[in-house]
Amino acid sequence: MADPFLNAENMTGGYGSGADILHGCNISVDKGQIAVIVGPNGAGKSTAMKAVFGMLNIHTGSVMLDGQDITALTPQARVAKGMGFVPQVNNIFTTMTVEENLEMGAFLRRDDFSDTIEQVYTLFPILKEKRRQHAGELSGGQRQQVAVGRALMTQPSLLMLDEPTAGVSPIVMDELFDRIIEVARTGISILMVEQNARQALEIADKGYVLVQGRNAYTDTGQALLANPEVRRTFLGG
Ligand SMILES: Nc1ncnc2c1ncn2[C@@H]1O[C@H](COP(=O)(O)OP(=O)(O)OP(=O)(O)O)[C@@H](O)[C@H]1O
Ligand SMILES: [Mg+2]
Repeated sequence: MADPFLNAENMTGGYGSGADILHGCNISVDKGQIAVIVGPNGAGKSTAMKAVFGMLNIHTGSVMLDGQDITALTPQARVAKGMGFVPQVNNIFTTMTVEENLEMGAFLRRDDFSDTIEQVYTLFPILKEKRRQHAGELSGGQRQQVAVGRALMTQPSLLMLDEPTAGVSPIVMDELFDRIIEVARTGISILMVEQNARQALEIADKGYVLVQGRNAYTDTGQALLANPEVRRTFLGG
């Protein structure tokens, strides 16, 4: 079997000189697949994402992307290697227009990125309509589209999303999940944290239940949904 496209192994670390938040956490994603991290509030889901993206100093473990050891790289260098990250909070520039947000997303590119902007508009047509509006005037779901679109501007091979459906209606959530599946079908690997655990595991090739900075359960999305213990403890029965 080929190595996973993203392979983060045995990550241990926390913030500054504080106590460790992650305790030997493992996360991997295969090419073009969707991996979902679920778990209770404060479990360390966002911390694990930050560790994979290089925003946290881990003192054990490694992060491999496409067979390359990127453990020592800065977040910006990881973007250059093909990572795109949409953080849980403050993921757009509210006082800039939609199109300016997308242009900001392309900050590392030296080539013509107008085709990529068009691709984002094809994926999220409402953003084209609203391209001259300030992103802060948009609805919650539309802002999340801006955030995802911004991350797509560097043409990542791995797209990381921390709670992309936070605060949106069920209909908007379904719509966003459909777009995320569409992105995965183009060969981009997806690593996503989700509070809507049940719905997210439905579309997950692989699911991780994280508890107190450790992997509690790892399986296919379907197997986790069918696991009585996971259902009882994490999915509300
Ligand atoms: N910047 C930070 N500095 C210090 N501690 C932090 C920081 N961010 C998070 N923590 C702590 O790390 C632990 C894990 O937080 P984290 O945000 O990773 O959880 P989470 O699983 O993403 O939770 P949620 O579901 O609420 O988003 C918590 O105890 C939290 O208080
Ligand atoms: Mg979080």
